[in-house]
Amino acid sequence: MYPFHLPEISLNIVPLIWCIISLSKFFVQDGFHLLKKKLVSYFHVFATNFILRTLSPFVSLSSLIVIILLRKYLAGGFCCNDVSLNGQYVVITGANCGIGKETAIELASRGAKLILACRDVKKAEEVAKFIREKYHSQVLVEKLDLASFESVKSFASKISQNYKEIHCLINNAGIMMCPYMETKNGLEMQMGVNHFGHFLLTLLLLPILKNSSRARIINLTSIAHYRGRIPFEDFKYKNGYNSFKAYGNSKLANILHLRHLSKLLQGTNIQVFALHPGAVQSELGRHLPIGFNFVYSKLLSFFCKTTKEGAQTTIYCATEAVQHPMIYFSDCLPDKPSKEALNDEKAEKLWKISEEIKY
Ligand SMILES: NC(=O)c1ccc[n+]([C@@H]2O[C@H](COP(=O)([O-])OP(=O)(O)OC[C@H]3O[C@@H](n4cnc5c(N)ncnc54)[C@H](OP(=O)(O)O)[C@@H]3O)[C@@H](O)[C@H]2O)c1
Repeated sequence: MYPFHLPEISLNIVPLIWCIISLSKFFVQDGFHLLKKKLVSYFHVFATNFILRTLSPFVSLSSLIVIILLRKYLAGGFCCNDVSLNGQYVVITGANCGIGKETAIELASRGAKLILACRDVKKAEEVAKFIREKYHSQVLVEKLDLASFESVKSFASKISQNYKEIHCLINNAGIMMCPYMETKNGLEMQMGVNHFGHFLLTLLLLPILKNSSRARIINLTSIAHYRGRIPFEDFKYKNGYNSFKAYGNSKLANILHLRHLSKLLQGTNIQVFALHPGAVQSELGRHLPIGFNFVYSKLLSFFCKTTKEGAQTTIYCATEAVQHPMIYFSDCLPDKPSKEALNDEKAEKLWKISEEIKY
């Protein structure tokens, strides 16, 4: 049947390789209790073994190659440049875990001086310690809770007092699909943290960003913005709250924010980028129902990017990318966002509302 004959390999090798990859993937993940990790890994190994044994008559070297190629494809674009960030100051929000942590590690390896802006200072200090030991780079941890305007203002004022230049602001922190909750300032949590908190932070850091020779502002949005609509008349969802839609709305706001900002910054030293990192195995699903989170983050983990893979587009935007009219990037390439995300009127309207909020 085949145009050329591929030698069949021992059927036991395929599940074995799969198990090793699965186990190593689970053991490098952050934030899970060891026991839970082991149980999940054993289940995963058992399940994949079972599936592969059932399919054993069909498993061959060619199918192994297909699996490897599929995994490579799912890993998405890789940032392959060797751009140095020597001496550049980079602020990353939510860098204590997930994509933000991997971004911090990679940027430190390129010589950047980091400010990790995190709510969980203890976890962030562990990341900073790891980076200092590995790259001997300058890493500072500062407390930032995006659900509190007081905290954002206090963070920005510390940065403004201590630094003359910031070359890159990465608005990475995010919360997804939580039950209805409010920030300390009475805003719905997802829009409050993902958009309003980052909006204020960006506004307050703009003078230092402008002061730098060249600067970049990067917002992590999501493909979920495609189902987003800005709830201009009902930011508190008094007419009904759907956590899924509210996440998409906040991620649409991340793009519209930069769309209008790019107009205000035309002709300046600052470029802006909104990016979708891909579907990534991280702690973002912590508010999902347990069963759904398990299926998404564990059983479907083969189809998701690792956090390192998920950080690639951020790294690309922080180093090499050039701003383009649609602002949006994915898999280390410019991409087209939803029609709603290209709406200048809505971008301006959101900007005005965000600016007029009582900070
Ligand atoms: N993972 C994906 O598949 C995916 C897909 C599309 C877009 N994204 C976007 O990528 C970004 C990073 O997500 P991730 O996957 O790395 O998720 P993650 O592992 O859950 O990391 C999110 C980070 O945001 C921080 N954060 C949450 N609320 C905060 C607050 N009020 N103040 C300060 N920090 C806060 C978290 O801090 P704590 O540890 O203290 O909670 C954590 O450090 C998010 O903006 C997300 O929307 C992710």
